[in-house]
Amino acid sequence: MRTPVIAANWKMYKTPTEAESFLTAFLPLVREQTKSEIVLCPPAIDLTFVLAGVQAGSVRVGAQNMHFAEEGAYTGEISAAMLTALGVTHVILGHSERRQYFAETDETVHRKLITALKHRLTPIVCIGERLEEREGGETEEVLTRQIGVAIGGIDPAQLAPMIVAYEPVWAIGTGKTATPEMAADAHRLIRGEVARLAGKSVAERLRILYGGSVKPENAATLLGQPEIDGALVGGASLDPQSFAKIVGAA
Ligand code: PGA
Repeated sequence: MRTPVIAANWKMYKTPTEAESFLTAFLPLVREQTKSEIVLCPPAIDLTFVLAGVQAGSVRVGAQNMHFAEEGAYTGEISAAMLTALGVTHVILGHSERRQYFAETDETVHRKLITALKHRLTPIVCIGERLEEREGGETEEVLTRQIGVAIGGIDPAQLAPMIVAYEPVWAIGTGKTATPEMAADAHRLIRGEVARLAGKSVAERLRILYGGSVKPENAATLLGQPEIDGALVGGASLDPQSFAKIVGAA
C-alpha cells in the first residue's frame, strides 16, 4: 500500500502573517489524521514561518522551486542546500506555471531532480499535457517524454523518494477537472513508463498525485481511484477548512 500524499501549492499567495493564520486554523483540523502525508508548499519567503508553525507535528514543508546548481551567481534563485538547512523536506519541480512563464524545460527539470535527490529532498515532479496536446491526441507522447527526460539516466535506486504529480494543464485553476477515469489512465501510463525505465519495484512504490482543480467536492471521487495516490492542490489549499476537507477525503 502506498501512503497518500496531500500537498498544498500556495503559489504566490500569502504573506508570512497570512501563512501563520492559516496554520492556526488548519493544524487543529488535521491533528487526528494519520492516514496521509500532508505537505505545505508556501512561497519561499514564508518557509521559515511555516516550518516554525508546524514544529514537531507530522505536517511537512516543501518549496515550490529550486535551482539545480549547488550555488553561484543566479540572482533571485534558491539552492537545495539552503532549503534543507531550513528543514524543508520536499520540493515541487517543473510545475506547469514554471514551464509556461519561467522557461523551465524537461531538461532543467531533469537537472533539478538530480540535485534534489542528492540533497535528500523529496521531489514532487510535475508533468501534464496542455489542452491542444490532449485535443491533438498527443497526451501519451507528452507524458512519456516528460517523465522519460526527467528520470532518464538516474540510477533507479536513487529514485525511491520521488513523487510524481500528474497535472493536466487545462485543469489547473480552471475549475475543469480530469474525470477520475482520465486521471487513472494517465497515472497508469506514467507508472508503466517508470516501470520500463527504472524497474517494477520503483514504479510500484511511486506515489502519483493528481492535480488540477481538486476541491472538497471532488476529492473523494478522485482519491478513491486506486491509481491516484494523493493530490497536489492549488486554489483549494489556500483555505484551511477546504484543504482539511481534502485531507479528510484521502
Ligand atoms: P489548482 O492548482 O488546484 O488551483 O487547479 C493545482 C496546481 O497548480 O498545482
